[in-house]
This record gives sequence, C-alpha cells and structure tokens, in this order.
Amino acid sequence: MNGAREDQYAVIGNPVEHSLSPRIHAMFAAETAEAVSYGTLAAPLNGFAAAAAEFFDSGGRGLNVTVPFKQDAWRWVTRHDAAAAASGAVNTIVPEDDAFRGCNTDGVGLVTDLTDNLGWALAGARVLLLGAGGAARGALPALLEAGPTQITIANRTESRALEVAAAFEGLRASPLADVGGGWDIVLNATSASMGGAALALPDTCVGGAACYDLFYNLAAPTPFCAWAEQHGARVCADGLGMLIEQAAEAFHLWRGIRPSTTPVLEALRGGCS
Ligand code: ATR
Repeated sequence: MNGAREDQYAVIGNPVEHSLSPRIHAMFAAETAEAVSYGTLAAPLNGFAAAAAEFFDSGGRGLNVTVPFKQDAWRWVTRHDAAAAASGAVNTIVPEDDAFRGCNTDGVGLVTDLTDNLGWALAGARVLLLGAGGAARGALPALLEAGPTQITIANRTESRALEVAAAFEGLRASPLADVGGGWDIVLNATSASMGGAALALPDTCVGGAACYDLFYNLAAPTPFCAWAEQHGARVCADGLGMLIEQAAEAFHLWRGIRPSTTPVLEALRGGCS
C-alpha cells in the first residue's frame, strides 16, 4: 500500500506506547485490504481535547480512546451512540460531516468474546460484576442486553456500586462482603490487575464460576485469574479477546467492513503477528 494514500487512525491515551491496538488494526487492514494506517497518540493528562482536535484537523479519520481519557472523550464529542450515552465513556470517535460521534464498543466486545469466542451463555446466567469504575460502566449496556437472569454489581467502595445500579435498570448492587457464591459468570472490572495491589474480594464469590478478567496479560495469568483459580473458579479467561473484539467493532464503524478476529487472537496469544 502507498503510505501517502492510507487513512490515518490512532489510539489516544497516557501511557499508550505499549498498546496492542496498532498491531491488531494492522492485521485487520492486511486481512481486509483496507488502506489504513494506525498509530499511537500520547496526550498529556490535561491535554485530551487539544490532541484530539489537532489529530482530526490534520486529516485523522478516527480515534480509539484508552485510559485515562474515556470520560474526557465523552465530554468532547458532539453526539453519542446508545452504549456511550449509557456508560458515560467513549472508546471510539467517528468523525461525521458536522460532528464527532462518540461510541463505546467495549461492552459489545466483551459480550462477543464471552459468547462467540468462549461459548459462555449470558442469556439466563447469574452474573456478578466486580468493580464500579469506567470499565464496569462501559460493559453494562451490552451485558444487560444479552439477557442474563440477574446482574449484581459489587464494589470495594459500596456507594459507587449503588450509584451505578441506580443508573441502569435491572441491575442490583450488593456489598462486596455479601455477594455469596453460586454465580455462573464472575467478571472482574476492577483495576486491581493493573495496579498489582492485593485483591480485596471475598474468597467465596468465584467458586464453580466461569471467571473473566476485563484486563489481560500476554505473558502470564492476570492476578485476578490466578486468584480465581486458587479459589475454585471453573475456568478464568482474560480480556485479550475483548480487546480484539472491541477493535473489530471500531474498525467496522470506521470502514464498514468487519474483519475476522480469530486469526488475530491466535497470532497475539501465540506471541507472533
Ligand atoms: P476504570 O476506569 O479502569 O474502571 P476506576 O474508575 O479508577 O478505573 O475504577 C477502578 C475500580 O477498581 C473501582 O471499582 C475500584 O474500587 P473502589 O471504587 O473501591 O476504589 C476497583 N479496585 C481497584 N483496586 C482494587 C482492589 N485492590 N480490590 C478491589 N477493588 C479494587
């Protein structure tokens, strides 16, 4: 492909240099033969708006947004898709004629990974969601739509779980200490895996459950997966598949073509691309 004719995309974050998104989108572009170039854009912590505006002013065709800017992006865009509106977080920006549309593909990415890649049924399941920050909020609209019998949210700081439960119809909140057991699926949306801090979670909550960490680690099980397996989880998967599926949704929003994700998952899990 001729570099001059490629449409420019990027992931904006801080830090962002270790993001896997450029590798994922390069594989999507190769597979679909789309003329796409995708890089990283590091913005200062208080500089999201200026960096995003400059990127689009210089011809950029779309941004993914990662930590810590998903809420800044929500405020910056001119309109929101339903998932972004409900979650208060934007991970994909699509420029339109007279506006910037903010989308959230994280929830759909999570649900696609759980149901299509892992084969875990969400419909009719009892689901426990741990954490009440941006990651949990982003996942909720698609999770609720997938038809579980029950979703309960529990968080170390209980007031935050109550706030999120009040914002989503059909969601229950529970104090972390009282979540009990017997869950079909337990989702870790806390940032405990990123910080390396000890997990403040009740031992009983993962027994017999299929567990999923929204974060990922290519080299070893995440701290949550290691902890869940020690505490009786049936299985634990990390969020690499979710990362790839949310990227595929973004690619589809920008290019109108849906790339296959299985080869990308295999390539990244296998350590080559
Ligand atoms: P993000 O946008 O990535 O979700 P966040 O909004 O800072 O980040 O939220 C982090 C979440 O991880 C919160 O639910 C936090 O719990 P508190 O609200 O009590 O702070 C949770 N968290 C972080 N470290 C944790 C730990 N060691 N044990 C349990 N929960 C933890």
